[in-house]
Amino acid sequence: MCGIFGVLSADPAVPLMMDALGRLEYRGYDSVGLATVFEGKLSRRRAAGKLSALQKLLEREPLQGLSGIGHTRWATHGPPTIENSHPHVAGRVAVVHNGIIENHAILRAELSAAGVTFESATDTEVVAHLLNRELLVGATPHEAMALVMPRLIGAFAFVVLIAGEEDLLLAARKASPLAIGIGDGVAYVGSDAVALAPLTRRIIYLDDGDWAELLRSRISVFDCHGVAVSRPEYLSTVSSGMMGKGNFRHFMEKEIYDQPEAIAHTLHAVIDPGTWIAALPAPLDNVNAVSKITILAAGTSFYAALTARYWFESIGGVACEVDLSSEFRERKAVLPDEGVVIAVSQSGESLDTLLALRHGKSFYQKTLALVNVPESSIARESDAILLTRAGPEFGVASTKAFTAQLTALLGLAIAFGWARGNIKDCDALRLITALEGVPSRIARALKDVSKYQKIVHDLLRVRDVFYLGRGLSYPIALEGALKLKEITYIHAEGYAAGEMKHGPIALIDEHALVILVAPSDGLFGKIASNMSEVRARGGRVILLTDAKGAEELGTAADHLVVLPDIQPEVSPILYAIPVQLLAYLTAVEKGTDVDQPRNLAKSVTVE
Ligand code: G6P
Repeated sequence: MCGIFGVLSADPAVPLMMDALGRLEYRGYDSVGLATVFEGKLSRRRAAGKLSALQKLLEREPLQGLSGIGHTRWATHGPPTIENSHPHVAGRVAVVHNGIIENHAILRAELSAAGVTFESATDTEVVAHLLNRELLVGATPHEAMALVMPRLIGAFAFVVLIAGEEDLLLAARKASPLAIGIGDGVAYVGSDAVALAPLTRRIIYLDDGDWAELLRSRISVFDCHGVAVSRPEYLSTVSSGMMGKGNFRHFMEKEIYDQPEAIAHTLHAVIDPGTWIAALPAPLDNVNAVSKITILAAGTSFYAALTARYWFESIGGVACEVDLSSEFRERKAVLPDEGVVIAVSQSGESLDTLLALRHGKSFYQKTLALVNVPESSIARESDAILLTRAGPEFGVASTKAFTAQLTALLGLAIAFGWARGNIKDCDALRLITALEGVPSRIARALKDVSKYQKIVHDLLRVRDVFYLGRGLSYPIALEGALKLKEITYIHAEGYAAGEMKHGPIALIDEHALVILVAPSDGLFGKIASNMSEVRARGGRVILLTDAKGAEELGTAADHLVVLPDIQPEVSPILYAIPVQLLAYLTAVEKGTDVDQPRNLAKSVTVE
C-alpha cells in the first residue's frame, strides 16, 4: 500500500502535495515522488527514502505547475529505488498507484510484445503504458480510461496526470481506498480524508470499480461499465486540528498519553453517561436471535478481538469465534444463520479485513464495523458502525486505538450479556462502574515512567523476550510482544503462559527475559508457578502486577511494575499500558524510528 494524492489548484501544486504526502506517510515511507504539468509539459522528481529526501531534491531542482500528483511508497513490486518510485511515466501519462494490479505480468508481456520498454519492476507502469497507447492512437483521456479500466484486475487506486492537460486528473479505485475532495475552483484526490483534511471537508467516495474525471469546475464519476453515476458528497469529520504531536517527542508517545481521554470518549459512545444504560447497535440489538459472533481483524486489532472473545463468551453468553482476517477466507470458514460478523479495524481500510467482511456477507451474516475512521471502506460496507473515539492515530504501532477497541468491545459484551439475561443487573452495574474507572487508573499508571528505565536497559541486552499471560492477559502478552518487535526490532514472542512448558521453555536461560502480565486475579497462582519455572532455568523476570501481586511475588522478580488495582474483567485495558511503555521507551533508548518503523505501514491495503 502507499499514499497517493492529486491536485488541480489555483496555487503552486508542489507545497500542497508535499504537505499532503506528509499526512500520508503513515501508509508507507520507503520512497517518494511527484509530477506536475506546467506549460503543457510533464515533469517529475523522485527520491528513495522519506519525504525529506524529496524535499532536498526539490530545493536543487524545483518544479512549477498548478496541477500535480504525488506518492509515498511501501514497496510491493520491486525494491524502493528511484526507478521504482512513482509517478511512473509513459509518453504523456504519469500515474501514482496504491495496491496491486494482479494481472500486471500478462499485461506487461502483451505490451513488451508490442515493443514497449519498461523502466521499473513495478506493476504500476503497465497502467501508464496502457493509457498512453490509447492516447497515441487518438483516444481522448476519457476514452482511454474507459478502455483500460476493464482490463485491470486487482485491488488498487490510482491517479493519472497527462501532459498538455492542466485542468484534468483521472482517478480510479477498486477495493483500495480513494477520496475526492471538492474545493472552491480546486479539486483534490487522495488516499483518505486525512490527506485532504486541511484542504477541504467536502468529500466524495468512489464505489468499487468507479473511476472519475476531475476538472477544477466539475467532478464526473463513472461506474465499472463506464456509465455516468452520481455519488453522494459527505462532510468529513476529520479536522486538521487533530493532527499535531503537541509537546510530545513522537506521535506514539502522544497517543499513549491520549488514552484516558480516548477511552472515556469511546465508553460514552456505548454507555449513556446520564443513565448508565449500555446501548446495543444493530445488528447485535436483537440479542436472542444472534446465534454466533465472529470477530475479524488484523495486527493489534486482532488482539483486541481475541480479548473480546473471552468477554462475549463469559459476559455475553454467546458463541464467539475470532480469526485473523487473512486466514478467515483462506480456510473458507462456514458461518451459521443469524450470525453476526464484527470487523475490528483502526483504519477501516485493512484490505484483509475488508475482504474477510465480504466473505462474511456472502454467508448472509449481519455486519458491524468497529472502526476509528467513520468514512472508511469497512464502515461503508457494513450494516452498522460503532466508532471508537480515539481520534486520528498516526504512530504506526497502534496504542490508543487498541485500548479504545477494547473499551467498546467490553461495553458491547456487557450490554449484550445483560440484555440476553446472561448477567444480572448488579453484575452489569459492577462492570460498567469498573469500565468508568479505567481512564483515571490509566492516568495514574502514566504518571511516573522513570521506573521503566532500568527495565529498558535489561531489554536492550537480552537475546529473546517472552511475554506470558493467562486468560484475559494472554492477548495482552501477544500485543506486548508485537509492540516490542514492531518498534525496537528486538526478538519477542507472546505466549499463553500454559503453553510455555510445550516449547518456549527450551529457550529459557540467562539470555532470556520473561515479562509476565499478571494482575492478581484467579489465575495468579498458576502464573506464580510459571515464574518459578523461568527463574529455575536462569531466566530474568519482569512482573507486571498490582499491589497484592507485588506483595506475594515482588521479591522474586528482577523488575516489578505495580499498576493500580482493577476489576479482573477490565484489567486488559489497563495492562496494555505498561507493554506499550516498555516498547516505546526501549525504542527511544535504542534510537529507532518510533513512528515510522522499518518495513511497516499504518494502513495495509494489500493482501
Ligand atoms: C498494520 C499496522 C498495525 C495494525 C494493523 C491492522 O499492520 O502496522 O498497527 O494493527 O495494520 O490495522 P487496522 O487499521 O485494520 O486496525
